[in-house]
Amino acid sequence: MKVLKSTVIENKLVSNRVYKLSVNFESAIKPGQFFMLKTLDNSFLLPRPISVNDVNGSIVSFLYRIEGMGTKKISSLRVKDELQLFGPLGNGFDMNKLKGKVAIIGGGIGVAPLQYLLKVLEKKADLYLGYRDSENMYNYSELKLYANKTVTVTEDGSFGQKGFVTDYVPYDLYEVVVACGPEIMMKKVIEHCKKNKVKCYISLERRMACGMGVCLGCSVETKSGNKRACKEGPVFCGEELI
Ligand SMILES: Cc1cc2nc3c(=O)[nH]c(=O)nc-3n(C[C@H](O)[C@H](O)[C@H](O)COP(=O)(O)OP(=O)(O)OC[C@H]3O[C@@H](n4cnc5c(N)ncnc54)[C@H](O)[C@@H]3O)c2cc1C
Ligand code: FES
Repeated sequence: MKVLKSTVIENKLVSNRVYKLSVNFESAIKPGQFFMLKTLDNSFLLPRPISVNDVNGSIVSFLYRIEGMGTKKISSLRVKDELQLFGPLGNGFDMNKLKGKVAIIGGGIGVAPLQYLLKVLEKKADLYLGYRDSENMYNYSELKLYANKTVTVTEDGSFGQKGFVTDYVPYDLYEVVVACGPEIMMKKVIEHCKKNKVKCYISLERRMACGMGVCLGCSVETKSGNKRACKEGPVFCGEELI
């Protein structure tokens, strides 16, 4: 883990309230890991956790949606501005476990960590994307590029199939399922995978303060006790989660 100041290479609006931020970072990063990001003006005290969206040589990119003060402030950064990065943090996906037929399910802004994962999997995984509507299809064209095949579902049917993406995955065809999205979606994925006896790995979001395993603010209840999403997670085996 490094704590460093980096310079903004790009920070642009790519969709409704969603920005892509790119900075220089020279160190190994695993898909599913995240960084704590902070502007240097101390306008917000705690850094905010954002997943790695992609890595290209020494450039790391993030895809984030404005939710409150922290992300709003980060969105105001301009090219050549400095920001503080802590990371890479968290366990990330264990690539040795993503073998055989892999399905990746993403929902809403939860798709953010999936681009780098799909890229490392070299077009071998099938991708199932769930969005609210055609206006909020974050990262869609890039994700599609790196998937073996893509099934897209919008809640209102304005693009692709209509309904919830979790109802469109033929779970029994897969050896492993990976998912990242809203909590209700993660619960459904775990239920379906249990029913179909398929292993699943879920990337969870928790409010984080330190991001380094110290404050215990990001506890997740598991069958083997409480775990820290920032340290032992954010990726957890679905059957471990309570
Ligand atoms: C490991 C991890 C990776 C993440 N990766 C991404 C990413 O790649 N892209 C992205 O857009 N967001 C990501 N998030 C969520 C992001 O960290 C929050 O949206 C951000 O911290 C909100 O800060 P804020 O100051 O803008 O909003 P706040 O003013 O702090 O909060 C605004 C609203 O967002 C909710 N919120 C705040 N933090 C979280 C959180 N951690 N999870 C869920 N809801 C939250 C609050 O309850 C509140 O309703 C990630 C979170 C975690 C834990
Ligand atoms: S955020 Fe402090 S222990 Fe995880």
